[in-house]
Amino acid sequence: MNILTFKTNEELNEAGAGIITGLIRTNPRAVLGLATGSTPIGIYEELVRVYRKGLISFKSVTTFNLDEYAGLPADHPESYRSFMERHLFSHIDLPAGQSHIPDGNAPDLEAECKRYDRLLEDAKQIDLQILGVGHNGHIGFNEPDHALRSGTHIVKLRETTREANARFFPTLDAVPTHALTMGVGTILKAKTILFIARGADKAEIVHEALTGPIRTELPASLLQTHPNVVVLLDAEAGRLFA
Ligand code: F6R
Repeated sequence: MNILTFKTNEELNEAGAGIITGLIRTNPRAVLGLATGSTPIGIYEELVRVYRKGLISFKSVTTFNLDEYAGLPADHPESYRSFMERHLFSHIDLPAGQSHIPDGNAPDLEAECKRYDRLLEDAKQIDLQILGVGHNGHIGFNEPDHALRSGTHIVKLRETTREANARFFPTLDAVPTHALTMGVGTILKAKTILFIARGADKAEIVHEALTGPIRTELPASLLQTHPNVVVLLDAEAGRLFA
């Protein structure tokens, strides 16, 4: 595991975007796994800057997002589809049909999970999976539990997760109670994982996940079993590795 700590967020963003653009340059048909939340925003902004300079094209790239809230229409401002359009997709030349996000508003959510897994199977392998981490150690929306699921599934969000995400909604009640998420099996199947954390409030969970025992009650600890994880931390999140 390659753990890199950066003094500034700009340096972290440039490093993260550099890894992604390097991959796309060597493999224009790369399959990217994408995350939402605050963590990857700076990296997406950097990717857009590089794209605007004419240094990269996403025309042949395919993307799969980790997760989506259940019950929010795709055009709701806080759906992860809207998030991705706002921060990345609407600014680059990625063809609309090549970006995949589970449909949290599908009439049959179980069928939607199966459909998403079929799409992932057809894509064979995610070349690079971007991952953030929740304060409780969740990856995607795989919340701490006595057992974890391999494929895409419906999850009931932990109250702490809803509270953490309430900053994006008018009230806590407006935060969806359920989500669709890729399972840990799919995440761990990615060729490379780019695991990113920022801020002092993530220092302990990141350190425990990457150095402590591997357990399903701390889903990010499963990353220790993956052969190719690159960890990007800002100085605060990486404090305990110093
Ligand atoms: C988002 C996702 C989540 C977030 C995590 C951290 O697609 O899968 O696991 O990465 O909740 O969120 P932020 O980055 O907002 O701290």
